[in-house]
Amino acid sequence: CGIVGYIGHRDAFPVIIKGLTRLEYRGYDSAGLAIFDGETINLCKTKGKVVDLEEKSTEAIKKGTVGIGHTRWATHGVPNDVNSHPHFSNSGELVLIHNGIIENYDSLKQELIKRGYTFKSDTDTEVLINLIEDVQKTQGVKLGKAVQIALNQVVGAYAIAVMDIKKPDEIIAARLGSPLAIGIGENEYFITSDASPFIEYTNNAIYLEDEEMAIIRLHKPLRIRKIKDDSLVTHYVQELQLNLEQIEKNGYDHFMLKEIYEQPEVIKDTFRGRLLADQGLIRMAGIEDNIDKFLNAKRIIIAACGTSWHAALVAEYVIEEFARIPVEVEYASEFRYRNPIIDSSDVLIAISQSGETADTLAAIKLAKEKGAFVFGVCNVVGSSISRETHAGAYTHAGPEIGVASTKAFTTQITVLTLIALRLAKAKGTLPNSEYLKYLHELELVPERVEEALTQNDEIYKISEVYKDSTNCLYLGRGYNYPVALEGALKLKEISYIHAEGYPAAEMKHGPIALIDEHMPVIVIAPSQDHYDKVVSNIQEIKARNGKIIAVVTKGDKQVRELADHVIEVPGISEALTPILTTIPLQLLSYHIAVLRECNVDQPRNLAKSVTVE
Ligand code: G6P
Repeated sequence: CGIVGYIGHRDAFPVIIKGLTRLEYRGYDSAGLAIFDGETINLCKTKGKVVDLEEKSTEAIKKGTVGIGHTRWATHGVPNDVNSHPHFSNSGELVLIHNGIIENYDSLKQELIKRGYTFKSDTDTEVLINLIEDVQKTQGVKLGKAVQIALNQVVGAYAIAVMDIKKPDEIIAARLGSPLAIGIGENEYFITSDASPFIEYTNNAIYLEDEEMAIIRLHKPLRIRKIKDDSLVTHYVQELQLNLEQIEKNGYDHFMLKEIYEQPEVIKDTFRGRLLADQGLIRMAGIEDNIDKFLNAKRIIIAACGTSWHAALVAEYVIEEFARIPVEVEYASEFRYRNPIIDSSDVLIAISQSGETADTLAAIKLAKEKGAFVFGVCNVVGSSISRETHAGAYTHAGPEIGVASTKAFTTQITVLTLIALRLAKAKGTLPNSEYLKYLHELELVPERVEEALTQNDEIYKISEVYKDSTNCLYLGRGYNYPVALEGALKLKEISYIHAEGYPAAEMKHGPIALIDEHMPVIVIAPSQDHYDKVVSNIQEIKARNGKIIAVVTKGDKQVRELADHVIEVPGISEALTPILTTIPLQLLSYHIAVLRECNVDQPRNLAKSVTVE
């Protein structure tokens, strides 16, 4: 998840170690480095933290002024020493660090195995370095050219840095989809995921653009080329004026806000290699390998906690609607303690961002004991839940640092929607035209999320009006009932305002008694979702002088006339609305919490990962 390369006149070891420490905020589970000592490239890597790496490093590895270091946040293969970066090629001459995901690594790997290559790790990275080596050997080209040819065969996302023992004064770096900055000092270069590792040495930097590679050589000017067509690119060197904290949060004031804004990108990562709309395919290894388990299941039980439990509720609606398999959603904590009726004809899906939540883990163990097939949807690769389940699908949201979950939630829904559609295809429960329509619409979700984020200024203004509220009600129907629950949870968690989410129609069975002019009611009212019914609910609130903040589909007229404030989200099929309607609610909670001077990223009494029951 973090890259630090150095080529210059300083000892590379302290520069890399300090740099990796600066990148720790990005989240990681293992670390490693490789330094060229003038004759050979020495390597050290370990599961764990940068301090563990520092401790494990012998004097031999500390020698040299050219090197690359990495902190890994696992995407393929569990976190362990072997899977940590850097990775050597088979000959031991090339060494690589990589952030990102290579989608077609499996087919490339099979091809390389046929050609006699062997692999020590489970990573896609080791495939890439051997591919580069293979190109170098078979085509007799230099390192830079070999990297370029190899990258043109790669589908996926990457930021990489490569060293070649035969070229001790050169590092090749490249990016597609993962950030990469080059700090330019006097006779020295820093190759890093963001500017924080080099800001104390130089303010001059170049940020590589997608599909660009840099040939970085000592005492030579930097060369940047387009990976596709080899054309030279001229980059202006920027003078950075950021402090460390601003860099870590990528210019955002809080991790939560950064993570909210990362959603279009991470949803793309979640789709990567899985959603092949043009071919009418959804490909998820964990589902393919176990499709019979799902198709023969009497029902699916989903167990989770907190925000993940809300994702489970959305999944209940989509799986039942698309695949027509009965779904039950359970709080993991309740499920584990009530002797549930579950057997080998059931499938249990456990959803967890951290993959460490104690109650969810216990629910999995219980379901396994009773013979059920257990499938995990986790964000953290190699986490306890991902190991304890029979199979699973990762959400690929990247590390989530803000305690209040945002991008993990929308990527959970994304993965679960893909699963629902994949099962529908297998069962034939959706007409093919409908199925294809959903695939194409899903492809548009990242840009629609981007559009939903443009309402930020409007949402800020609304936050100013309601920041001093003491209570808040969130209402939604159908697919957006879980979104109402999640909206209320977000507000509670970070602003400490009491909030409740309800199915809109349930309002008249209780919460309506609370409504007066002091009660803001957030109504999620996209145009298709039982629109007329929701409009009636809004009228009932208005009749009692409640303040209405409505989340509506772009262009809506009817609700706009009734509501005190409207927040627009782009139109999309009803089943996909939760990913979009969640966005304004995240921003609303965020701004209200900031205006109330709350600790947004670390709210009181809450933990990111609850490993006790
Ligand atoms: C904690 C976190 C929540 C999270 C819940 C479940 O309460 O603060 O944000 O939704 O745990 O965590 P999990 O990692 O299992 O999704």
